[in-house]
Amino acid sequence: MNKSQELLERRKKVVANGVGIFNKASVQSAKNATIIDADGNELIDFAGGIGVVNAGHCPEPVVKAIQEQAAKYIHTSFNVVSYEPYVELCERLVDLFPHGKETKAMLVTSGAEAVENAIKIARQATGRSAVLCYTGAFHGRTMMGHDTHFQDWL
Ligand SMILES: Cc1ncc(COP(=O)(O)O)c(C=O)c1O
Repeated sequence: MNKSQELLERRKKVVANGVGIFNKASVQSAKNATIIDADGNELIDFAGGIGVVNAGHCPEPVVKAIQEQAAKYIHTSFNVVSYEPYVELCERLVDLFPHGKETKAMLVTSGAEAVENAIKIARQATGRSAVLCYTGAFHGRTMMGHDTHFQDWL
C-alpha cells in the first residue's frame, strides 16, 4: 500500500462520511497547476480546488500576503474589532460590482455561508420567505444549502 492509499485508509476511519471523496489522490505540496502527492508523484490538477484556485496553487504574491498577515494577527472577529483589509476588500468588491448608489458587501468563509446569507438578506429585503431552487443541485453542506432541505422550505 502506498502513502496515498494509507492516508485514504486513515481518512476513512476518522473523517465523517458526509465529506465526499471525488478521487483517491493525495497532496503534499502544490504549485501552479501541479500537485505532488504523498508518494512524490507529479499530477496535473484539473480541479483547482473545484474552481476556486483561479491563480493556480501558491502564487508568490498570495503566499507572501498570507505570511505577512499571519505575523500581524490571525483572528480577532470583525464583529469585535474592525480591521482595514476587510474594509478594503469590500471597497474593491463594491467598485467592481456596483448595483446602486449604496452597494455593500459582506465576507464569509465558504460558498454555503454565502448562499445562506444571500437568502437571509433576500428574505429581509423582500419580506418573503419562499425559496426556489433546482432539484439535484448542490449549494453547500448546510441544512439550507442541501437541495432536499431547500425543497422543505417551499
Ligand atoms: C455550486 C456550489 N455551490 C456551493 C458550494 C459550497 O461551497 P463551500 O464548499 O465553500 O461551502 C459548492 C462547493 O462545494 C458548489 O460547488
